Amino acid sequence: MLVALRDILNEASSMIVVIKVAKALVVYYSMYGNTEKVAIALAAGLRSGKVDATVASVDAAKLDELGAFDLLCIGSPVHAWNVSKPVREFLEHLKSVGGLGDKKAFAFDTKAKTRLAGDAAGKIEKKLKTLGFAIARPHESAIVTGREGPLEEIAEERFKQIGAELATKL
Ligand SMILES: Cc1cc2nc3c(=O)[nH]c(=O)nc-3n(C[C@H](O)[C@H](O)[C@H](O)COP(=O)(O)O)c2cc1C
Repeated sequence: MLVALRDILNEASSMIVVIKVAKALVVYYSMYGNTEKVAIALAAGLRSGKVDATVASVDAAKLDELGAFDLLCIGSPVHAWNVSKPVREFLEHLKSVGGLGDKKAFAFDTKAKTRLAGDAAGKIEKKLKTLGFAIARPHESAIVTGREGPLEEIAEERFKQIGAELATKL
């Protein structure tokens, strides 16, 4: 009887499959709410791909909890052709966090639809690479139709798709 029970337990334990849910953190700064909307859409897309996605503003993001995430997404509005100051500061603080080499990253920005708009996402991506992150997908921009928005109509749907695409890379 005991032998039979042991055999059953052995059989059961060999059938246990551990499913690890990938985790993503989407960090953003937003002055007027547009980059926040893009961050939320990105997280929705990640969740559609079964990723456990958390959205946090740069002020709320906790650097000491970064270790728990497989993917870090960072978004900023373009300010004066550059990354916004709060995101630049966040990236500076990231330097002090160790163990980022096994993590993936994605950068995005919001900006005007003009050749002279400048860039934040490309600069964020470059910094993330320097910090040791593997870039999961090339950076992307969402277009605002005015300084305070709104976003182009397709922007949120596009970032949902990008989130779903990122989920396949984790
Ligand atoms: C101080 C400031 C500087 C800006 N500079 C630029 C710029 O250089 N290029 C650009 O395309 N948009 C620029 N914008 C427009 C922002 O990109 C726009 O306000 C932002 O994408 C909206 O996102 P948010 O609602 O998340 O703040 C600037 C906006 C502010 C407030």
